[in-house]
Amino acid sequence: MGLSLLAYLILAVTGINLFSRRNNEHPQPNWLRTAHYTTGWVMVALVLLLLAIGIVGTLGHFGSLGHSGHLIAGCSVVVLVLLSAASSTQISPSQPWARAVHVGTNIVLLVGFTWVSLTGWQVVQKYLP
Ligand code: HEM
Ligand code: HEM
Repeated sequence: MGLSLLAYLILAVTGINLFSRRNNEHPQPNWLRTAHYTTGWVMVALVLLLLAIGIVGTLGHFGSLGHSGHLIAGCSVVVLVLLSAASSTQISPSQPWARAVHVGTNIVLLVGFTWVSLTGWQVVQKYLP
């Protein structure tokens, strides 16, 4: 989870840099765009890994899912991350809506990460001494 949040921070910094360079018509160094979307796909992989660990762990412990609001929070974050990645593949000068969807989704994702961390912290308490 810590790595996912670090990836989100790197994406925010490189994304805002891409945004301001584009708006100030400054050249966009190739490494910046590459660093951004590589970190993006790493974050997608980390979140899917957290989903898999959560589901396997819960099924192993309870034999069923849906024991707390953490399930909704976790699934919402997965949907937001996949929407962010999918919209990024559509970003082009002829599809200005894709950039708006991408940036909007990523702002909501900050709320999603906060929600899943808080609910995750709550459910983990019962496993702590
Ligand atoms: C989920 C994985 C992600 C992928 C694969 C991804 C990929 C991309 C790509 C390809 C672009 C277009 C770059 C260009 O202008 O050519 C972009 C733009 C951008 N991304 Fe992401 N991104 C991801 C997540 C994020 C996150 C989490 C944030 C913010 C927290 C973010 C913020 C931005 C911003 C601000 C822009 C610039 C939009 C502009 O130029 O107006 N991205 N992203
Ligand atoms: C993007 C991040 C995360 C995703 C996608 C995710 C996803 C999930 C899912 C889908 C479950 C099954 C819940 C159920 O069926 O009731 C689960 C269980 C669980 N998760 Fe997460 N989770 C994430 C982050 C966290 C964090 C940060 C923590 C701890 C601080 C955490 C702790 C747990 C625990 C303890 C369970 C077992 C549920 C229980 O005993 O009720 N998760 N997770």
